[in-house]
Amino acid sequence: MKYNLMDLFKKVLVAVDGSEPSNRAIDYAVEISAKWDARLTVLVVVPKTTIPVFPDQGMGSSSILAYGELARYEERMKEVYQNVLNDALMKVKSINKELEVEGILKEGRPSSTIVDVAEKNGVDLIVVGSRGVGGITGWILGSTSRKVVDSCTKPILVVK
Ligand SMILES: Nc1ncnc2c1ncn2[C@@H]1O[C@H](COP(=O)(O)OP(=O)(O)O)[C@@H](O)[C@H]1O
Ligand SMILES: [Mg+2]
Repeated sequence: MKYNLMDLFKKVLVAVDGSEPSNRAIDYAVEISAKWDARLTVLVVVPKTTIPVFPDQGMGSSSILAYGELARYEERMKEVYQNVLNDALMKVKSINKELEVEGILKEGRPSSTIVDVAEKNGVDLIVVGSRGVGGITGWILGSTSRKVVDSCTKPILVVK
């Protein structure tokens, strides 16, 4: 593959979960997008819930399902992550008003959704934070950033 060094980054995607590292990822993504005259996509993934089901009780028998708690939990998760996206877009605007930016909110597994969206949208650079809101302290990379680096063929910038 020959690189066109004038046009390396025309589409940049930053994945945001509301954590400090992902806020720093926004800073980098905005500056890089501005320098390369790129379009910026801000992606927030609402983590999909796995329903706890006891194997000896069959489908639909979980008490969480019975009381509608799962639906309420999912609604709340969507609201929380919609706010993360709104804040991220406001942060982008506050750094650079001229930048062409779009926000995407998707439900799914964060790592594979990030890779999917990047591939479908022809993204040239993915920017993620090294760590996020969850996970095990002491690790350099979180589970999402590690899986994205492992499974995506695109250039990735991991911001600490
Ligand atoms: N739900 C999500 N939606 C979008 N991006 C995410 C999401 N979760 C994590 N990321 C991205 O991956 C980075 C690393 O987070 P992660 O690997 O999940 O660390 P941790 O294990 O500490 O939560 C975040 O800074 C963010 O850029
Ligand atoms: Mg996480």
